[in-house]
Amino acid sequence: MSDAAILNGGTVNTGAVRAPAVRETGVPITPRNIRFMQALPQAATWLGGDIVATAVYNALSLTFPDGERMFMDSVRHYKDRVSGQLLQDANDFIAQEAIHTREHVSLNKVMEGANYPLDRIRAHIKNQIGIAEKLGPMVMLGATISLEHFTAMLGDSLLRNPSQLDGAPEDVKRLWLWHAFEETEHKAVAFDVFNAATANMADWRRYLIRVRAMLITTVDFIAHITFYTSLLLAADGMGRGKATFKTLWFLFGKPAFFRRGMRGYWSWYRPGFHPWQHDNRKLLESWRGRLFPN
Ligand SMILES: [Fe+2]
Ligand SMILES: [Fe+2]
Repeated sequence: MSDAAILNGGTVNTGAVRAPAVRETGVPITPRNIRFMQALPQAATWLGGDIVATAVYNALSLTFPDGERMFMDSVRHYKDRVSGQLLQDANDFIAQEAIHTREHVSLNKVMEGANYPLDRIRAHIKNQIGIAEKLGPMVMLGATISLEHFTAMLGDSLLRNPSQLDGAPEDVKRLWLWHAFEETEHKAVAFDVFNAATANMADWRRYLIRVRAMLITTVDFIAHITFYTSLLLAADGMGRGKATFKTLWFLFGKPAFFRRGMRGYWSWYRPGFHPWQHDNRKLLESWRGRLFPN
């Protein structure tokens, strides 16, 4: 299958495993250079006084600056394999992630000065990304498309149930909703770049790469968010065992932040999967005017 076939769209049946379709939604990817943070909220309780919810969001936010840098690096590495609209989308993807990074760096200042083991958490995140970097650009791209599947699912969940952010200061709430919106806009870009970068591979091999990447990423992502959240809660005085239990309960029990957000998780393992098969364009449109009135 040629790059042109991949880039021009449509599904291509080349054998046992159907090659995925490219993005044909016409959703524009718009980098928005917005600075959200007005004032730093309370580090441990900014989400309506709920220390577990606040710690989960803080832990996620801590992973974004380095994580999104890896997303940008991996897509940038394969930019010479794409052209036309997908090249433009890749550039807009990189611009969006760069602004997300900047805003989460601002939000993360909320945790500076408190008793949190930020150096330990950041060193752990950098170490994880360093492992992917050592394994090469295709491993980084595999991790990127897998994590983009997570950010797309969690973003969809947040836009569908914004009450999850009830009690947060208005600027912090807008930051998370803006991030959720843009993660939805660009949810297929890294995936389409991956398809272009692997266009010369046998379909079964490409399928194996992304399934293996997702299996590893799923275990890592859940384990690490739980680990970082429990470290934050422990620094606020909770015992580590209780902190881990409460975190897992928040993620998978009630309100089931991950479980609820991961409804579309299994579709990844379909051979012909593409992120826009979950068509949530109407959801995006319902938010566009509210989030970006001008
Ligand atoms: Fe992002
Ligand atoms: Fe993203």
